[in-house]
Amino acid sequence: MTRLAGKTALITGAARGIGRAFAEAYVREGAQVAIGDIDVARAAMTASEIGSGAIAVAMDVTRQDSIDEAVATTVETLGGIDILINNAALFTAAPIVDIDRADYNRVFQINVAGPLFTMQAVARHMIARGQGGTIINMASQAGRRGEPLVAVYCATKAAVISLTQSAGLNLIDHGINVNAIAPGVVDGEHWDGVDAFFAKYEGKAPGQKKQEVGAGVPFGRMGKPEDLTGMAIFLATDEARYIVAQCFNVDGGQWMS
Ligand SMILES: NC(=O)c1ccc[n+]([C@@H]2O[C@H](COP(=O)([O-])OP(=O)(O)OC[C@H]3O[C@@H](n4cnc5c(N)ncnc54)[C@H](O)[C@@H]3O)[C@@H](O)[C@H]2O)c1
Repeated sequence: MTRLAGKTALITGAARGIGRAFAEAYVREGAQVAIGDIDVARAAMTASEIGSGAIAVAMDVTRQDSIDEAVATTVETLGGIDILINNAALFTAAPIVDIDRADYNRVFQINVAGPLFTMQAVARHMIARGQGGTIINMASQAGRRGEPLVAVYCATKAAVISLTQSAGLNLIDHGINVNAIAPGVVDGEHWDGVDAFFAKYEGKAPGQKKQEVGAGVPFGRMGKPEDLTGMAIFLATDEARYIVAQCFNVDGGQWMS
């Protein structure tokens, strides 16, 4: 199908995982995609594996000059940006008494300031161009409620949901539609890291936490990146035009709100 034919997208953190699945799905749907990632070598490999619809763009979402450069390069190379997916993020976990201020600052820079200032840069471009656009922010079920060992990451994802609401209400005046997706537990390298945190803090064997969370999902298993692509495509089509400032759970039934 070609539901995104003629569209261009910038997807942050798309060298691997969910962002990569978004890039693959968007190209299959006829879009041209810029894979913006701090891991430039992996982004280049991913782009070459996806093929002619994808390019790699060096991008560190914690640095304003890097955001501006990545947006400018994408606009120059692809001719504009119709869709932004703010996907890059880092996980962190620690009991409240062990939270480290430097780690807090680093994770808030990537997970909150990153999407905010990337939205700002892309929204400026979209407003100047006058054709509207779509912005999708990656939230999480972790943004819906706290977790005993995950205070900082949960707070960043709650902030992403809040930013989506404010930006959605502000930017719809310009025909820019901002929404968010809240995945549950999605297997991949991200969750290998999560599993390692729980092995450390809960004394679990490697892989044990993954098994437990997978068994706890009403659908019956952990998510796969491909489980998220339908929503990411839909939100970027005209069919979703009247959906504004919302956050959608795509999580196998884990959270209801
Ligand atoms: N995997 C899950 O279970 C899960 C659940 C809920 C929400 N999410 C969210 O979905 C999104 C994608 O998750 P994932 O599992 O694919 O993650 P991942 O860790 O596999 O991929 C993250 C990507 O972001 C890139 N990145 C890291 N720091 C960056 C920076 N400063 N600038 C640019 N790129 C940077 C990494 O190089 C990597 O390619 C994230 O926002 C995550 O919080 C994931």
